[in-house]
Amino acid sequence: MAKKKLSRIDLKKMKDSGEIAVWITAYDYWTARFAEESGMDMILVGDSLGMCIYGYEGTVPVTMDQCIYHSEAVRRGAPNTFIIGDMPFLSYQVSIEEAVRNAGRFFKEARVDAIKLEGGMRVIPQIKAIADGGMLVMGHIGLTPQSSGQLGGFKAQGRTVETAMELIEDAHAIEQAGAFALLVEAVPPEVCRIMRDELSIPVYSIGAGIEADGQLMICSDVLGIFQAFTPKFVKKYENLAEKTINAFQEYVQEVRSKQFPLDEHTYRMVAGELPKLQEKLKSR
Ligand code: KIV
Repeated sequence: MAKKKLSRIDLKKMKDSGEIAVWITAYDYWTARFAEESGMDMILVGDSLGMCIYGYEGTVPVTMDQCIYHSEAVRRGAPNTFIIGDMPFLSYQVSIEEAVRNAGRFFKEARVDAIKLEGGMRVIPQIKAIADGGMLVMGHIGLTPQSSGQLGGFKAQGRTVETAMELIEDAHAIEQAGAFALLVEAVPPEVCRIMRDELSIPVYSIGAGIEADGQLMICSDVLGIFQAFTPKFVKKYENLAEKTINAFQEYVQEVRSKQFPLDEHTYRMVAGELPKLQEKLKSR
């Protein structure tokens, strides 16, 4: 039986009953398919695709069109999973109108269930306008990679009273603006727990500890593909980089030593056709 896609109401019920939601990023058809088959509750088509797929140093160069193409592929791979499209840098900062139009593209063109955007107080008008437009929007605070320059790098956030209070106030403002959920990145677990307990919407963690309504991880980290750097909060469940290199090296070695392809990997001519071909070649 096909898996039932979760709704905003299901996610809220999970929070209220203490059931933890598990989600992962995906950027392509196959990863999305495997995520759905593994029983993930949600998939994020993160703008981390800039680093994980395109090899950029950060997420800033990622465009709306790239996010839409990848979200479309993910939707095809996971038709029954709650999918969140990630608003890339400059798709929502310039004006409220642009934010609403770009958010709408995700729903119209890629059939996502929700969008996510980064920031606290300064994006409240955008969150409100997108929610007022009838779209599900998730907030994202703490380490927000699109503004890592302002944050002084990819650094944990909310580690002092002052910065923790700022994040808690951002979280409340995001809920009041109409977000259906909040993602908290690279923040001490105590601070994430306060947000989880004070907010009525689900509060999810990536690198913000276990006391959250759910956990997100980047697929390339979980699979051990991304090699540029490994944040403290990452657990690698597989080493696909090593496995892939081993498989490629074996292929190279077998082709060069003529161990591949073997008879079993080739197509034969229809019975009786080969002698006729040979005759024909002789009489040319
Ligand atoms: O783009 C992404 O994958 C994200 C996560 C880092 C939270 O936004």
